[in-house]
Amino acid sequence: MGLMEKVTVELEDRSYDIVIGSRTLSAIGDRMAQFGFSPTVAVISNPTVLGLYGEDVVRSLSDAGFNCFSSLVPDGEEYKDYYWAYHILTELLRNRLDRNSCVVALGGGVIGDITGFCASLYMRGIHFIQVPTTLLAQVDSSVGGKTGVNHPAGKNMIGTFYQPRLVWTDVGTLATLPRSELLSGIAEIIKYGVIWDADLFDVLEKEREAILGLDRSVISYVIKRSCQIKAEVVSKDERESGLRAVLNYGHTIGHAVETETGYSKYLHGEAVAMGMCLAARLSSELGIMEGSHADRIKSVIGAYGLPVELPKDVNGDKLVSLISMDKKTVAGEMRFILPKAIGSVVIHKGVDVKILKRIMET
Ligand SMILES: NC(=O)c1ccc[n+]([C@@H]2O[C@H](COP(=O)([O-])OP(=O)(O)OC[C@H]3O[C@@H](n4cnc5c(N)ncnc54)[C@H](O)[C@@H]3O)[C@@H](O)[C@H]2O)c1
Ligand SMILES: [Zn+2]
Repeated sequence: MGLMEKVTVELEDRSYDIVIGSRTLSAIGDRMAQFGFSPTVAVISNPTVLGLYGEDVVRSLSDAGFNCFSSLVPDGEEYKDYYWAYHILTELLRNRLDRNSCVVALGGGVIGDITGFCASLYMRGIHFIQVPTTLLAQVDSSVGGKTGVNHPAGKNMIGTFYQPRLVWTDVGTLATLPRSELLSGIAEIIKYGVIWDADLFDVLEKEREAILGLDRSVISYVIKRSCQIKAEVVSKDERESGLRAVLNYGHTIGHAVETETGYSKYLHGEAVAMGMCLAARLSSELGIMEGSHADRIKSVIGAYGLPVELPKDVNGDKLVSLISMDKKTVAGEMRFILPKAIGSVVIHKGVDVKILKRIMET
């Protein structure tokens, strides 16, 4: 099983560990047995991930004495909705989970978000454990306790803050992940480097081949560092009243691109990649960061094969109006997370619409 790394998310009585290892799915039952949960455990997943990793997880839970069943949601962001959350809740009731029961989210961010949402609602809150199987989920969505489902009126609009009891990451699961999904997670890791840690950024720049080749020690290091950064930010500002906003670097523009293209043309990380390049340029145009840093950010993003420019057919006016409607916009004032240098950012308020439009159109 090899070495396991641990990061603790410090949130007083809601603190929890993120354990990062390789080929560790078969050990999850023993670890869960230490918590004293009720015997019946639900594994929430989708057919793709259950087919790949369900057997290992279910066997491990059974060997540890749990009576477990799986509840499936079809594969896709479009199923992260109220209807499927209701379906999961019904299955938890039918299988008589009680207040001390635990549900396990086995999958990417979609499964993690909907499972956490259900765990927070069922009997006013039961235990849940994240077993993230995409890189994005391992470095981002499984950490920090944001749960939720989509509504036709907006993505992630219905949700709760609810922390898991444990995050159990097996980097071995990345071996089956499609390349585009891997890159989408890498975009978030680049984000952590730019906002918080110049050394992590250096590793991303120098170790590209090892990272893309899923070299176990390098990939474990970048995942661990990402989790540490997110954990540090979240423990200082769990409910996003201030600092947590730095995690939205690249996301203001990225979300607008996703909305404008109907969430079908680009993966989240691809849209964020474009957003990070543009925000870096905006920062240098506003004199906040030297242009050479913006070039370096763009070149690392591009080196991974992530997009660095907006698609030609995207309408700048439309994007600007989407940005001003973003749920992160406070009292009509556009806020941007802008890098000052690699490894640190500022929250910049009141960006001039004309400058923003010019950057988007050139
Ligand atoms: N809660 C948060 O803080 C937070 C943060 C970021 C994103 N999110 C949410 O996360 C979601 C996106 O997550 P995602 O990028 O993981 O997408 P996803 O969950 O849809 O997974 C992507 C695809 O990969 C497949 N897959 C998962 N693991 C696999 C594996 N090991 N091998 C092969 N295929 C595998 C999935 O079945 C799916 O088809 C969005 O809904 C987003 O809103 C939440
Ligand atoms: Zn993101």
